[in-house]
Amino acid sequence: MTRPGAGVGRAATGEPEVVVVADPAEASRHAAERIAAALTAAVGRRGRADWVTTGGSTPRGIYRHLATPPLRDRVPWRQVHLWWGDDRFVARGDPLSNVRPADETLLAHGSGGGASIPAANVHAIPMAEAMGAGVGPERAAARYDTELRAAGDDGLDVVDGMPVFDVVLVGIGGDGHLLSVFPGSPTWDAEAWAIAVPSPTHVEPHVARVTLHPGVLAVARQVLAVAFGDGKAAVLARIFGAERDPRRWPAQAALAANATWILDVAAAARLPR
Ligand code: 6PG
Repeated sequence: MTRPGAGVGRAATGEPEVVVVADPAEASRHAAERIAAALTAAVGRRGRADWVTTGGSTPRGIYRHLATPPLRDRVPWRQVHLWWGDDRFVARGDPLSNVRPADETLLAHGSGGGASIPAANVHAIPMAEAMGAGVGPERAAARYDTELRAAGDDGLDVVDGMPVFDVVLVGIGGDGHLLSVFPGSPTWDAEAWAIAVPSPTHVEPHVARVTLHPGVLAVARQVLAVAFGDGKAAVLARIFGAERDPRRWPAQAALAANATWILDVAAAARLPR
Protein backbone atom coordinates (compact mmCIF):
# COMPACT_ATOMS: atom_id res chain seq x y z
CA MET A 1 0.00 0.00 0.00
CA THR A 2 1.25 3.47 -0.78
CA ARG A 3 2.13 5.35 2.39
CA PRO A 4 1.40 9.05 2.30
CA GLY A 5 4.26 11.23 3.38
CA ALA A 6 5.91 14.55 2.78
CA GLY A 7 5.30 15.64 -0.77
CA VAL A 8 2.95 12.72 -1.42
CA GLY A 9 -0.64 13.53 -2.20
CA ARG A 10 -2.41 15.77 -4.57
CA ALA A 11 -2.32 19.57 -4.41
CA ALA A 12 -5.74 21.19 -4.35
CA THR A 13 -6.48 22.86 -7.69
CA GLY A 14 -9.21 24.95 -9.29
CA GLU A 15 -11.65 27.38 -7.77
CA PRO A 16 -14.24 26.52 -5.13
CA GLU A 17 -17.92 27.31 -5.41
CA VAL A 18 -19.02 30.01 -2.94
CA VAL A 19 -22.66 30.11 -1.86
CA VAL A 20 -23.78 33.07 0.24
CA VAL A 21 -27.13 32.75 2.03
CA ALA A 22 -29.13 35.01 4.32
CA ASP A 23 -28.41 33.63 7.77
CA PRO A 24 -27.03 30.67 9.79
CA ALA A 25 -30.33 28.79 9.60
CA GLU A 26 -30.28 28.97 5.81
CA ALA A 27 -26.59 27.94 5.74
CA SER A 28 -27.35 24.87 7.87
CA ARG A 29 -30.31 23.92 5.69
CA HIS A 30 -28.28 24.30 2.51
CA ALA A 31 -25.34 22.31 3.90
CA ALA A 32 -27.67 19.53 5.08
CA GLU A 33 -29.23 19.27 1.62
CA ARG A 34 -25.80 19.01 0.01
CA ILE A 35 -24.73 16.31 2.46
CA ALA A 36 -27.94 14.34 1.97
CA ALA A 37 -27.53 14.50 -1.81
CA ALA A 38 -23.85 13.47 -1.67
CA LEU A 39 -24.52 10.52 0.63
CA THR A 40 -27.50 9.31 -1.38
CA ALA A 41 -25.54 9.53 -4.64
CA ALA A 42 -22.56 7.69 -3.16
CA VAL A 43 -24.71 4.81 -1.89
CA GLY A 44 -26.34 4.58 -5.32
CA ARG A 45 -22.96 4.55 -7.05
CA ARG A 46 -20.85 2.29 -4.84
CA GLY A 47 -23.10 0.81 -2.15
CA ARG A 48 -21.73 2.90 0.72
CA ALA A 49 -21.09 6.51 1.59
CA ASP A 50 -18.27 7.88 3.73
CA TRP A 51 -18.93 11.20 5.45
CA VAL A 52 -16.38 13.08 7.53
CA THR A 53 -18.05 15.46 9.94
CA THR A 54 -16.64 18.26 12.04
CA GLY A 55 -16.69 19.63 15.56
CA GLY A 56 -17.27 23.08 16.93
CA SER A 57 -20.67 24.71 16.93
CA THR A 58 -21.25 24.57 13.16
CA PRO A 59 -22.72 21.06 12.75
CA ARG A 60 -25.63 21.14 15.22
CA GLY A 61 -28.04 22.98 12.94
CA ILE A 62 -26.99 20.78 10.04
CA TYR A 63 -27.59 17.64 12.09
CA ARG A 64 -31.08 18.83 13.02
CA HIS A 65 -32.08 19.02 9.36
CA LEU A 66 -30.58 15.63 8.58
CA ALA A 67 -32.27 14.01 11.57
CA THR A 68 -35.79 15.15 10.67
CA PRO A 69 -38.04 14.75 7.62
CA PRO A 70 -37.76 15.23 4.74
CA LEU A 71 -33.98 14.65 4.68
CA ARG A 72 -34.04 11.92 7.33
CA ASP A 73 -36.26 9.81 5.11
CA ARG A 74 -34.36 10.51 1.90
CA VAL A 75 -30.89 9.21 2.83
CA PRO A 76 -30.10 5.45 2.92
CA TRP A 77 -28.51 5.85 6.35
CA ARG A 78 -27.78 2.17 6.88
CA GLN A 79 -25.09 2.34 4.19
CA VAL A 80 -23.54 5.54 5.55
CA HIS A 81 -20.24 5.54 7.44
CA LEU A 82 -19.65 8.54 9.68
CA TRP A 83 -16.07 9.62 10.45
CA TRP A 84 -14.65 12.62 12.32
CA GLY A 85 -12.20 15.11 10.86
CA ASP A 86 -10.96 15.84 14.34
CA ASP A 87 -11.85 15.47 17.98
CA ARG A 88 -10.67 16.61 21.35
CA PHE A 89 -8.93 14.14 23.70
CA VAL A 90 -11.97 13.75 25.96
CA ALA A 91 -14.58 11.06 26.54
CA ARG A 92 -17.49 10.84 24.10
CA GLY A 93 -20.02 12.19 26.62
CA ASP A 94 -17.86 15.18 27.54
CA PRO A 95 -19.31 18.60 26.61
CA LEU A 96 -16.11 19.25 24.61
CA SER A 97 -16.45 16.06 22.57
CA ASN A 98 -17.02 16.50 18.84
CA VAL A 99 -19.04 13.28 18.87
CA ARG A 100 -21.53 14.41 21.48
CA PRO A 101 -23.48 16.77 19.19
CA ALA A 102 -23.93 13.91 16.73
CA ASP A 103 -25.04 11.55 19.50
CA GLU A 104 -27.52 14.14 20.77
CA THR A 105 -28.83 15.60 17.54
CA LEU A 106 -28.12 13.44 14.50
CA LEU A 107 -28.21 9.79 15.45
CA ALA A 108 -31.37 7.84 16.09
CA HIS A 109 -30.11 6.37 19.34
CA GLY A 110 -29.48 9.83 20.75
CA SER A 111 -32.49 11.78 19.57
CA GLY A 112 -35.04 9.00 19.59
CA GLY A 113 -35.69 9.10 15.88
CA GLY A 114 -32.85 10.61 13.89
CA ALA A 115 -30.58 9.17 11.23
CA SER A 116 -30.36 5.39 11.54
CA ILE A 117 -26.66 4.96 10.87
CA PRO A 118 -25.70 1.55 12.34
CA ALA A 119 -23.54 1.90 15.47
CA ALA A 120 -20.78 -0.09 13.72
CA ASN A 121 -20.64 2.59 11.01
CA VAL A 122 -20.20 5.45 13.48
CA HIS A 123 -16.42 5.76 13.57
CA ALA A 124 -15.67 8.03 16.52
CA ILE A 125 -11.98 8.53 17.23
CA PRO A 126 -11.34 6.06 20.10
CA MET A 127 -10.37 8.52 22.81
CA ALA A 128 -11.87 6.62 25.75
CA GLU A 129 -9.79 3.54 25.08
CA ALA A 130 -6.54 5.57 25.19
CA MET A 131 -7.69 7.48 28.27
CA GLY A 132 -8.58 4.24 30.04
CA ALA A 133 -5.13 2.85 29.25
CA GLY A 134 -3.56 6.00 30.71
CA VAL A 135 -1.85 6.87 27.43
CA GLY A 136 -2.04 9.95 25.23
CA PRO A 137 -3.88 10.85 22.02
CA GLU A 138 -1.10 9.22 19.98
CA ARG A 139 -2.72 5.85 20.80
CA ALA A 140 -6.14 7.06 19.66
CA ALA A 141 -4.62 8.44 16.45
CA ALA A 142 -2.82 5.17 15.72
CA ARG A 143 -6.04 3.18 16.29
CA TYR A 144 -8.01 5.50 14.03
CA ASP A 145 -5.37 5.21 11.35
CA THR A 146 -5.69 1.42 11.56
CA GLU A 147 -9.50 1.63 11.41
CA LEU A 148 -9.35 3.84 8.33
CA ARG A 149 -6.90 1.58 6.55
CA ALA A 150 -9.08 -1.44 7.36
CA ALA A 151 -12.01 0.41 5.77
CA GLY A 152 -9.85 0.54 2.65
CA ASP A 153 -10.43 -3.22 2.33
CA ASP A 154 -14.15 -2.68 2.76
CA GLY A 155 -14.91 -0.07 0.13
CA LEU A 156 -13.23 3.17 1.26
CA ASP A 157 -11.21 4.22 -1.77
CA VAL A 158 -7.60 5.37 -1.55
CA VAL A 159 -6.17 7.82 -4.08
CA ASP A 160 -2.70 9.36 -4.04
CA GLY A 161 -2.09 7.64 -0.72
CA MET A 162 -5.08 9.28 0.98
CA PRO A 163 -8.56 7.97 1.88
CA VAL A 164 -11.29 9.33 -0.39
CA PHE A 165 -14.41 10.48 1.45
CA ASP A 166 -17.65 11.30 -0.34
CA VAL A 167 -18.17 14.44 1.68
CA VAL A 168 -15.91 16.23 4.17
CA LEU A 169 -17.68 18.85 6.28
CA VAL A 170 -15.37 21.43 7.86
CA GLY A 171 -15.84 24.50 10.03
CA ILE A 172 -13.33 27.34 9.98
CA GLY A 173 -11.48 28.62 13.03
CA GLY A 174 -10.83 32.28 13.74
CA ASP A 175 -7.09 31.70 13.17
CA GLY A 176 -7.73 30.11 9.76
CA HIS A 177 -7.58 26.48 10.87
CA LEU A 178 -9.72 23.64 9.71
CA LEU A 179 -9.82 20.11 11.10
CA SER A 180 -7.25 20.46 13.96
CA VAL A 181 -4.70 21.69 11.47
CA PHE A 182 -3.59 24.99 12.94
CA PRO A 183 -1.32 27.61 11.36
CA GLY A 184 2.22 26.19 11.21
CA SER A 185 0.93 22.65 11.83
CA PRO A 186 3.42 19.83 11.17
CA THR A 187 0.54 17.54 10.11
CA TRP A 188 1.13 18.34 6.43
CA ASP A 189 4.35 16.31 6.60
CA ALA A 190 2.92 13.42 8.60
CA GLU A 191 2.81 9.90 7.21
CA ALA A 192 -0.30 8.82 9.12
CA TRP A 193 -3.89 9.51 8.13
CA ALA A 194 -4.77 10.34 11.77
CA ILE A 195 -2.39 12.45 13.83
CA ALA A 196 -2.21 13.49 17.50
CA VAL A 197 -2.10 17.26 18.02
CA PRO A 198 -0.87 18.86 21.26
CA SER A 199 -3.25 21.16 23.07
CA PRO A 200 -3.32 24.47 21.17
CA THR A 201 -2.48 27.48 23.32
CA HIS A 202 -3.96 30.11 20.99
CA VAL A 203 -7.48 28.73 20.55
CA GLU A 204 -9.97 27.19 22.93
CA PRO A 205 -10.54 24.64 24.15
CA HIS A 206 -6.96 24.03 25.29
CA VAL A 207 -7.23 20.28 24.89
CA ALA A 208 -5.07 17.87 22.89
CA ARG A 209 -6.73 16.55 19.76
CA VAL A 210 -6.56 13.99 16.99
CA THR A 211 -6.98 15.19 13.43
CA LEU A 212 -7.13 13.68 9.99
CA HIS A 213 -4.27 14.54 7.65
CA PRO A 214 -5.13 17.71 5.67
CA GLY A 215 -4.28 15.79 2.51
CA VAL A 216 -7.73 14.18 2.69
CA LEU A 217 -9.23 17.44 1.44
CA ALA A 218 -7.54 17.36 -1.95
CA VAL A 219 -8.84 13.89 -2.83
CA ALA A 220 -12.33 14.20 -1.29
CA ARG A 221 -15.22 13.89 -3.72
CA GLN A 222 -16.77 16.92 -2.09
CA VAL A 223 -15.62 19.34 0.62
CA LEU A 224 -18.20 21.54 2.34
CA ALA A 225 -16.79 24.47 4.30
CA VAL A 226 -19.46 26.14 6.39
CA ALA A 227 -19.07 29.39 8.32
CA PHE A 228 -21.50 31.94 9.60
CA GLY A 229 -21.58 35.08 11.72
CA ASP A 230 -19.61 38.32 11.57
CA GLY A 231 -16.94 36.79 13.82
CA LYS A 232 -15.73 34.83 10.77
CA ALA A 233 -15.61 37.78 8.33
CA ALA A 234 -12.01 38.86 9.01
CA VAL A 235 -10.49 35.41 8.76
CA LEU A 236 -12.47 34.61 5.59
CA ALA A 237 -11.07 37.79 4.02
CA ARG A 238 -7.56 36.46 4.72
CA ILE A 239 -8.35 32.92 3.53
CA PHE A 240 -9.75 34.22 0.24
CA GLY A 241 -7.07 36.95 0.03
CA ALA A 242 -4.04 37.28 -2.21
CA GLU A 243 -1.57 35.55 0.13
CA ARG A 244 -1.88 31.83 -0.66
CA ASP A 245 -0.07 29.72 1.93
CA PRO A 246 -2.09 26.82 3.38
CA ARG A 247 0.57 26.23 6.02
CA ARG A 248 -0.17 29.73 7.34
CA TRP A 249 -3.90 29.64 6.49
CA PRO A 250 -4.83 25.92 6.62
CA ALA A 251 -8.39 26.56 5.46
CA GLN A 252 -6.94 27.47 2.07
CA ALA A 253 -6.65 23.70 1.57
CA ALA A 254 -10.38 23.95 0.79
CA LEU A 255 -9.93 26.53 -1.96
CA ALA A 256 -10.29 24.01 -4.74
CA ALA A 257 -12.75 22.86 -7.36
CA ASN A 258 -14.03 19.99 -5.19
CA ALA A 259 -15.09 22.44 -2.45
CA THR A 260 -18.21 24.47 -1.77
CA TRP A 261 -18.13 27.26 0.80
CA ILE A 262 -21.50 27.93 2.40
CA LEU A 263 -21.44 31.29 4.14
CA ASP A 264 -24.04 33.65 5.49
CA VAL A 265 -23.97 37.31 4.48
CA ALA A 266 -22.35 38.33 7.78
CA ALA A 267 -19.43 35.93 7.34
CA ALA A 268 -19.05 36.82 3.66
CA ALA A 269 -19.13 40.60 4.26
CA ARG A 270 -15.40 41.15 3.73
CA LEU A 271 -14.68 38.64 0.95
CA PRO A 272 -12.63 40.12 -1.87
CA ARG A 273 -14.78 40.61 -4.97
C1 6PG B 1 -12.74 21.66 16.68
C2 6PG B 1 -13.02 21.75 15.24
C3 6PG B 1 -12.67 23.00 14.53
C4 6PG B 1 -13.95 23.78 14.25
C5 6PG B 1 -13.65 25.22 13.92
C6 6PG B 1 -14.93 26.03 13.76
O1 6PG B 1 -12.74 20.59 17.20
O2 6PG B 1 -12.54 22.71 17.30
O3 6PG B 1 -13.42 20.69 14.54
O4 6PG B 1 -11.92 22.81 13.37
O5 6PG B 1 -14.64 23.19 13.20
O6 6PG B 1 -12.89 25.78 14.95
O7 6PG B 1 -15.61 26.04 14.98
P1 6PG B 1 -17.11 26.58 15.08
O8 6PG B 1 -17.96 25.65 14.33
O9 6PG B 1 -17.40 26.54 16.55
O10 6PG B 1 -17.10 27.96 14.52
